[in-house]
Amino acid sequence: MTVTENMTRERPDSGGEVLRAEGLHKHYRAAGEILSGVTLSLQRGEMVAVVGPSGCGKSTLLHILAALDTPTSGTVYFAGKVVSSFSNSELAEFRNRQIGFVWQRHHLLADFTAAENVAFPLFLRGVSTSTAQATAHERLDQVGLGSRAESSAASLSGGEQQRVALARALAGDPALLLADEPTGDLDEQTAESVFQLMQSLHRTRQLTSLVATHNLSLARRCDRILNLEHGLITERVTNV
Ligand SMILES: Nc1ncnc2c1ncn2[C@@H]1O[C@H](COP(=O)(O)OP(=O)(O)OP(=O)(O)O)[C@@H](O)[C@H]1O
Ligand SMILES: [Mg+2]
Repeated sequence: MTVTENMTRERPDSGGEVLRAEGLHKHYRAAGEILSGVTLSLQRGEMVAVVGPSGCGKSTLLHILAALDTPTSGTVYFAGKVVSSFSNSELAEFRNRQIGFVWQRHHLLADFTAAENVAFPLFLRGVSTSTAQATAHERLDQVGLGSRAESSAASLSGGEQQRVALARALAGDPALLLADEPTGDLDEQTAESVFQLMQSLHRTRQLTSLVATHNLSLARRCDRILNLEHGLITERVTNV
């Protein structure tokens, strides 16, 4: 099958399904099999939590779903298209335009200002400096940090840096937000405010979101909870 044929091979039932993973396996030589056949589906507009013990593979899974890493085997579909069949330019476009990724260790550029950090993904796609800066300021306003736009990332508190990371993930108006422990390392009150912010941005920006978290009480406020353990996903019943 040629790449072009493979790319256009759409799942006939993709409907409102934004992302689907089928039978994902991931094996690391040192760590062994981390994912042992993960299958999941995200419907448009859902906010879904993925929980599981440290080291169970939550970050590994999110990286694979964002095409930042490749599975040993298995398939990821985005809007019905097979992600592994994307050309390099389609992959770059997928990562830059469709996905907003909040890293577990937010990976802000410490010596750059909050606004420069948020504008960075827009510079990568060739948006003009003035438009990128205007968008960055708008996103920082939305996360309550408009007044800190010109502060260096290193000078911000942990919660503020987490909010900048969220603003950066949303800078390019993605369809899908993948957030890896966006409230990790934050005190309870700050975690609550970052989560509330993410929930409200999820609604207003009509996102589909997958959030890895250790915080079960926050996970219970998502539409569904996926439990990752022993390399497999099981769905937990929420509100219990
Ligand atoms: N690049 C890599 N090379 C080898 N092993 C890796 C690599 N990345 C992750 N691992 C291993 O895979 C396992 C799962 O790691 P991962 O970071 O996905 O877990 P996690 O569920 O996100 O944990 P946490 O809750 O602590 O963030 C760990 O044992 C880790 O050491
Ligand atoms: Mg992790």
